Amino acid sequence: MPEFPGTLNSKLPRAGTTIFSVMSKLAADHQAINLSQGFPDFDCPELLVAHTHEAMRAGHNQYAPMPGILALREKIAEKTHDLYGCTYHPETEITITAGATQAIYTAIAATIREDDEVILFEPAYDCYEPAIELNGGKSVFVQLQAPDYAINWSTVKKLINHRTRMIIINTPHNPTGAVFSADDMLQLEKITKGTDILILSDEVYEHIIFENLRHESVARYPHLAERSFIISSFGKTFHTTGWKMGYCLAPKALMAEFRKVHQYLVFSCNTPVQHAVAKFLDNKDHYLELNAFYQAKRDRFNSLIQGSRFTLKPSPGTYFQLLNYEKITTEKDTDFAIRLTKEHGVAAIPISVFYHQPIYENMLRFCFAKKDETLERAAELLHKI
Ligand SMILES: Cc1ncc(COP(=O)(O)O)c(C=O)c1O
Repeated sequence: MPEFPGTLNSKLPRAGTTIFSVMSKLAADHQAINLSQGFPDFDCPELLVAHTHEAMRAGHNQYAPMPGILALREKIAEKTHDLYGCTYHPETEITITAGATQAIYTAIAATIREDDEVILFEPAYDCYEPAIELNGGKSVFVQLQAPDYAINWSTVKKLINHRTRMIIINTPHNPTGAVFSADDMLQLEKITKGTDILILSDEVYEHIIFENLRHESVARYPHLAERSFIISSFGKTFHTTGWKMGYCLAPKALMAEFRKVHQYLVFSCNTPVQHAVAKFLDNKDHYLELNAFYQAKRDRFNSLIQGSRFTLKPSPGTYFQLLNYEKITTEKDTDFAIRLTKEHGVAAIPISVFYHQPIYENMLRFCFAKKDETLERAAELLHKI
């Protein structure tokens, strides 16, 4: 192929390939156990696959309605009401998206203009900042505070000014596993009251929270819900990250703006999968028992790591576990992650990449959404270091 003959002025000059793709490829190249990218190595429920086949055979193979099939939106409305006590109208306040990533981009593109400021917390999941940048906004970073990655709300309050358009929150939090308390939500409510600030609440790990902690969904707080886009993902809840299906909840006026962008970004999402998920949502036990399922995985991984030279950080939510390696080496996490993959056969994600300017905390993120035997083999290798 000949080279592009003109000058390319990149819209994302600092962006490379995401760390998740880089580490997964490195793991594959070196036949390492891949605890880097966040996806299960076990299968999704057989019934969900059966429902998808049925939907395909029943001829649900053409475009779905732009906001998603009504049956699925109705089931999401019911689930959200049952769990968080908030009523979203399926016709006007719920849209099915191609995963949470598309929902996040859409909410940002629909509301952020040139020079708008968006407050986000670091370390941060990597798709927020590029979406803000592509839409001309300015990311304003607030660091989560050690040791438990808490938010200092008085710092947040000081950063708010007439340009602040949005605050992005994520609980349970990737990559740290931290979760918001009720007090965090009340603080957020206090500092946004009487402003035009929007909230984007990334709740993709809403069903992966441990020790009977309550998931503090924005939907529980009417004064937050009235200004919020809430985003979730069936990929995390049903072990189907490859199906890329999620949804967005928002009050009618916000959702109308969201849909203006959504219709030109994807128009609509995978039809048979929507039918299958709508039917599968009747199996409430699946998502109600997910906390216990993943808590057992986390506890298993943690007990397997005991006695190694890695130190565990508490992980009250998500399927990620941070391990501190300062007893092993003073290498940068990016260097150690590569060496760990190549020389020791286990791939993990360095935490510094979740900061806009890397902060090195001697910490790696391990995904424990894996079969027990995978976790056992990985722990065996980690013990040898
Ligand atoms: C915090 C967070 N938000 C959003 C996403 C993206 O979800 P999806 O795969 O549904 O696009 C992920 C996936 O890892 C995530 O961890």
